[in-house]
This record gives sequence, C-alpha cells and structure tokens, in this order.
Amino acid sequence: MRLAMIGTGYVGLVSGACFADLGHQVTCIDKDADKIAALRRGETPIFEPGLEALVSSNVKAKRLDFATDLKAAVAEADAVFIAVGTPSRRGDGHADLSYVYAAAREIAAALSGFTVIVTKSTVPVGTGDEVERIIREVNPSADVVVASNPEFLREGAAIRDFKFPDRIVVGTSDERARKMLGDIYRPLSLSKVPIMFTARRTAELIKYAANAFLATKITFINEIADLSEKVGADVQEVARGIGLDNRIGSKFLHAGPGFGGSCFPKDTRALIKIAQDNDVQLRIVEAVLGVNDSRKRAMSRKVATALGGSLRGKTVAVLGLAFKPDTDDMREAPSIPLVTGLLDMGAKVRAHDPVGMAQARKELPDIDYVDDPYDCVKGADAVVLVTEWVQYRALDLERLKQTMAQPVVIDLRNIYSPEDMAERGFVYESVGRAPVKRLRRSTDRDAIAAARPGADKPPASAGIGAVAFSSVDRD
Ligand SMILES: NC(=O)c1ccc[n+]([C@@H]2O[C@H](COP(=O)([O-])OP(=O)(O)OC[C@H]3O[C@@H](n4cnc5c(N)ncnc54)[C@H](O)[C@@H]3O)[C@@H](O)[C@H]2O)c1
Repeated sequence: MRLAMIGTGYVGLVSGACFADLGHQVTCIDKDADKIAALRRGETPIFEPGLEALVSSNVKAKRLDFATDLKAAVAEADAVFIAVGTPSRRGDGHADLSYVYAAAREIAAALSGFTVIVTKSTVPVGTGDEVERIIREVNPSADVVVASNPEFLREGAAIRDFKFPDRIVVGTSDERARKMLGDIYRPLSLSKVPIMFTARRTAELIKYAANAFLATKITFINEIADLSEKVGADVQEVARGIGLDNRIGSKFLHAGPGFGGSCFPKDTRALIKIAQDNDVQLRIVEAVLGVNDSRKRAMSRKVATALGGSLRGKTVAVLGLAFKPDTDDMREAPSIPLVTGLLDMGAKVRAHDPVGMAQARKELPDIDYVDDPYDCVKGADAVVLVTEWVQYRALDLERLKQTMAQPVVIDLRNIYSPEDMAERGFVYESVGRAPVKRLRRSTDRDAIAAARPGADKPPASAGIGAVAFSSVDRD
C-alpha cells in the first residue's frame, strides 16, 4: 500500500516509520525544511526510544522516504494521513485547525485516482465534514473518502503503542475506506488488535473523551493526594488499594505535579469548547482543567514551604524538565509553571534534563542549564525532582547531601521513600505522603514509623531507588 503522511512530528514520524515497518511504502512530508533535511541526513529531529533505528532500517529498505512537497507522494498514494499539529488557538482555547485545513487544500489539489484521506490529528467533532467540504471545493472531481483514525500513542512508548495498541478506531461509513484501512492495519491483526469501525464524528469524539477521562483520573488522585497529606494517609497505597479494583484499574493513578504535555491540556480545553458550542456544559472536565492549572503553579509554593517560606536568594536545583521521561517534549510541561513560580519568588534556578534541555531553553531562557545532575545540585538549597527519568531513580544520596547547601529534597514524583530519606537526614517532601520527621541517629524502623503522622504500622519501605510505577502509564 502506498501511504503519504502529512506532518512529520511526534505522531507523523512514528506512524510513518511504523507503517513502513509493517511493509507499506511511506513518504513522510513536512513543511519544515530543516526537519526533512535532518531526516535525509539520517538524524531524528525528536527523541523517542527506538525511533532512530526504526527510521534508518526502513529508509535502508527503501520503504520510507521524506519530502517537503506533497504533490508526488499524494498523487501516488492509496491513503493520505493528516498528522499535523492541532494546538490550542491563542486566546480562546479552541483547537487551531488552520494546519489541518491548509493541508486539506494542498492535498485536494494533488489528488489522482481513488484516495482515502485519513485524519490522524486530534480534531473536534465535525472536522472531517469540513475537510471533505474543502476537498470538494478545491477539486470537485476528486474520488475521495475522508475518514477519521485518531492516534492514541504515548510519547516515550510510541513505537510499542503504535504496534501493539489497545484498539484502532476508524471512523467512516464508506465500505471502500473501511476495506482500505482494514488492509493498512491488517499486519497488526496477527497480534489480535481490535479494530473498531464507527461513524466519523463518533471516532473524533472518542479521542477527546479518552484523553479527558485519563486527565480526570490523574486529577482525581492528585486531589486525593492533597487530602492524604492533611490526614496522614499515603496516596500511593490509596491508589494501589483502589487500582486493584478491576472496575477502576491501576493506571493513571500516580499523584504528581499535575498533568502536562502536548495532548491532555490542549485536548481538555478543546473538548470544553466543543461542548460549549453545542450548548452542553462538561462540568467535570472544566473542573479537571481548573484544578490542574492551579496545581502546577502551586508546586513552587510547596518548594518555598520546604525551605521555610521564602525563596529569595536561594538556589533551587530542578531535576527533569520534559513533561515525562523518555521524551524531549516540553509542551505544557509542569516544569514550566514550577520554574516560573520559583523565579517569581526570587529563587535562582539551575536545571538538568537528560534530553530535554535544548527544547527547555526556548521555554525557560532565564535559568542555568547544567549537563550533569550532580553538578546541578552542588551548593543548592533544595532539589526538586520533577520528571522521573530513570537517571534520577537511584541517585547517590550521600553525594547529594554532601554537596548541597542544605539537604532538602522535594520529590514531585514520589520516587523515594519518606522513611529512608528521613533516616538519611534529608528534609523530604513528596506528594500525598505526610513527611516523616527528621530523626537524628535512628535506624530503627519502628521509631521512624512512629514519627510518621497517622502511621499505625511500620511502613513497608519501597527502598531507595525503588519506584512503584511505570512512567509510561501516565500522561
Ligand atoms: N504527540 C502525541 O503524543 C500525540 C498523541 C496522539 C495524538 N496526537 C495528535 O497528533 C497531532 C500531531 O501531533 P504531534 O505531537 O505529532 O505534532 P508536532 O507539532 O510534533 O508535528 C506536527 C508537524 O506537522 C507539520 N506541518 C504542519 N502543517 C503542515 C503542512 N501543511 N504540511 C506538512 N507538514 C505540516 C509541522 O511542521 C510539524 O512538524 C495533533 O493533533 C496531536 O493532538 C499527538
């Protein structure tokens, strides 16, 4: 099958390379000439585990190539996928569809023979209707069907998600398009991936409803985390206790600094707007968005509290900037409102991220970037763990303590155990777990347990470096 992928970003490049790997002939197209030049040189413009090797092997096998102009690839394609960005529109929060509509106009002019146009970008309900109208306007004789095929991959695990998805959703009522998309995805049927065929508008809404539901789950556990801190409960255990119930499930129940990233914030905003335009109020989703926005900024006050209330003249080291591990994506990362909050309160901020620093410099130009996490924390009054990169999960805590000006750790991902940190002499704050009072010389676990507010039994320590979650199970 010949495929053209319009937009070669996180979704377009991964999907294009995976389709090629399934045996299709794919051209990935992007307006960004630097991106295409880099790909032609064998460089991958984004960080995604396994992507460089996947791209390079499929280029070598001549199943994948790149172009800045879509004409030739679209004319030859059986299916054209639209995978351009749909960011929040400035000022009102609606999804900005200008890239989708511009792509539709260009595609329309280049069509030849029967072609299925597939919207992979996340788009409001009814966008497929408008894409179809544009195509008929530009090229009235074109033999096309416009289908929806929303993408559910997660950055950081994108290749695995694409190849082993929980489901594939295809929105079309046209038989030829159903057959074409069934054939395109057939190689995945060996692993028994369910393909759900539905109406185009339903498919468009499924994507937003899925993201809003996941964002709600995260926000729910974050509010339970706030309550846990007040009443002396442990949110990790609450999450486990509820997550073991099959009706609830354990994923997306990791308390933290609030959701961010390229999808959840913009998609919840857009869903609220879609609902408003249809005289429906999605009060749960509105609350989720509001709670999450204020939470992200509140994380800087958590740091100030751990340092006695004032940050003026203090140096804060931030470990982790990307919105989650295994990506360099900084879009709406929780690190941004955290760092701006710290700067607003007069702190000096130093930061490290294994791959996200180049992107971060564009968002946060007023901080110091340090290439090594231990150099980053040297002389700092506090260290804030923001992204749970594997590199931060087993830090040499003695080294940290010796080089910091004060042993204060604010762990926004609950990587470490409050008991162990107290035992090692750290002032340690995490999310949804009451801090353990600092013990002077004790290694006695019962004493440590007793020092913990609300503790009625010795804690089952996770141990230093132990993490009770998988990072890809979240936003
Ligand atoms: N990033 C994710 O994890 C993810 C997951 C699921 C769905 N989505 C959705 O997929 C879509 C793409 O997201 P992304 O993260 O890949 O965006 P991105 O910004 O990384 O990539 C979009 C690319 O499209 C290119 N582009 C824009 N207009 C073009 C045109 N007319 N012709 C050719 N190229 C053009 C841009 O230059 C850019 O490289 C969005 O709607 C997003 O909501 C993203």
